[in-house]
Amino acid sequence: MNDAKEEIRARLPVEDVISQYIELKRAGRTLKGRSPWGVDKTPSFMVSPEKGIWHDFSANKGGDIFTFVMEVEGISFKEALEKLANQAGVDITRYAGGDARLAKRKTRAREALELATKYYQFCLSKSRKVAEYVFYKRNLNRSTVKEFRIGYAPKDGKACKKFLTSRGFSENELKDAGLLNRFDGDMFRGRMMVPFIDTTGNVIGFTARVLDKSEPKYLNTQDTLLFNKSRFIFGLAQAKEAIRKSGFVVIVEGNMDVISSHQAGVKEAVATSGTAMTEQHLKALSRLTNDIRLAYDGDEAGVNATERAIMMAGDLGINLTVISDYQGAKDPDELIQRGAELWQKAVENRKPAVEWLLDKYEEKVDLKTGFGKREYSDIALRLLGYVKDKVERAHYEEIVAHRLDVSREDLHGKADDLQRKILEKPKKRLKKAKTEVKSDKIVGLEDSLLAIMIYGGIEGPSELEAPEDEVKLDELEMVFDNLYKNYTKKELEREVGDLYGALRREIAKSEIESLQMKLENENLGPEEEKEILKRIYELQKSQK
Ligand code: UTP
Ligand code: MN
Repeated sequence: MNDAKEEIRARLPVEDVISQYIELKRAGRTLKGRSPWGVDKTPSFMVSPEKGIWHDFSANKGGDIFTFVMEVEGISFKEALEKLANQAGVDITRYAGGDARLAKRKTRAREALELATKYYQFCLSKSRKVAEYVFYKRNLNRSTVKEFRIGYAPKDGKACKKFLTSRGFSENELKDAGLLNRFDGDMFRGRMMVPFIDTTGNVIGFTARVLDKSEPKYLNTQDTLLFNKSRFIFGLAQAKEAIRKSGFVVIVEGNMDVISSHQAGVKEAVATSGTAMTEQHLKALSRLTNDIRLAYDGDEAGVNATERAIMMAGDLGINLTVISDYQGAKDPDELIQRGAELWQKAVENRKPAVEWLLDKYEEKVDLKTGFGKREYSDIALRLLGYVKDKVERAHYEEIVAHRLDVSREDLHGKADDLQRKILEKPKKRLKKAKTEVKSDKIVGLEDSLLAIMIYGGIEGPSELEAPEDEVKLDELEMVFDNLYKNYTKKELEREVGDLYGALRREIAKSEIESLQMKLENENLGPEEEKEILKRIYELQKSQK
């Protein structure tokens, strides 16, 4: 596997991989750009073509092409390896040993899907009736149809299969691709075909719509070797550029909403396909931007989906808002048909998701009655339990208290009771995720210290160990070159002192946070609670 990594690294310059995502400008021996995690005010993302590595000074991350793609796409190492191997034209099956057969099957499935896409595109051009549906009924223009590679699957039950077998694909290969139904005939018949395209540009499946009122309206590729619906984000391949540029993403409900939105100039739209949004979807998107706008219906399903998103958003530092100004239209597509500018405006006009939900709850109950107040406070407090930021939560508590015509203290009394009962489970899960990772700040401080110790030859805290990983060492050298190259020995020594002080404070702070979390979320005995409070007090004292 290391050989595969080496070969891919040799073929793909780090700057080529990274500039698919961000704009890089030369600055001496390094290249500079804006952090893809959107937290810098001035360019703080550096790439060293010589060393084949990158470092992000604002997000405190760094590494080689593999870690970059993993971080920015939110995928595993294995997926990053496959993706980059694909780009580099390296056949990893030669290296993969036991996985060789599986990799081969995937490649064949990918090839079958690519050819099927071309076949469906061809069939669209041949049918006047279908063209009428696509171009006039759905109002899609030629360039949209081309960009999304829309096609048509003929009605005849074996047409696509026949075509692909004539080109050398076996029945098993077509099954792997998800192109056959239970009876080994064509999976998709008489439907408008919209390919699922991954961010590398490979077709990995389809969503297929009937042209009339028959059921089911959409047929989607089921999970296959290539397609996983809990991960796939429809439209991301076409949207990622725009999302990075404008710094926000719009999540709509339907695939056709995505396509219409792109055509209407809002190219930041994506959707989950044939499934509700999962944590994996949200995580992957949160790596691209923290401004996530939900364009869900105001109906029951939309409310549920928004609640779920808020629960999942917990630790991701996301700014979740809801777009709901559809002016009576059923979905974004319908609004766009009335005028693209209406949708462009709607995307700007949004509400914090929590506030939007509080309004929805209020519509459902009668706040003039005691019973209504209880219902409203139950449901509102449960929601607020998921808002992690204390200041933000206080803001919403104020709103809720005001609506209930009670004080925030009364509300708190009730919140304490509820939190113990209701929030234990999900919070525990979130807490675990939090303690597993060192905070970005701590990692950043440690990196700077190590860089000075290793490349500046200054003695530092003994508890820090030099990494053995070569990529990490190169990265630290880049940190040193960029930050400390012109420092004198004295200045470096002072810097080590300052950094170490800051590191100790950060570590104490993070311990305090996790202890507070424990106090809030776990049912502790009085003794345990006292111990924890004592420890927090000590830590706070040591901070001064
Ligand atoms: P909608 O029925 O709201 O789709 O379902 P839509 O995008 O407005 O469709 P049009 O405008 O009538 O063509 C939203 C999403 O739910 C999934 C699809 O992913 C669809 O985009 N869905 C819907 C299915 O998977 N199967 C169905 O039968 C219906
Ligand atoms: Mn629709």
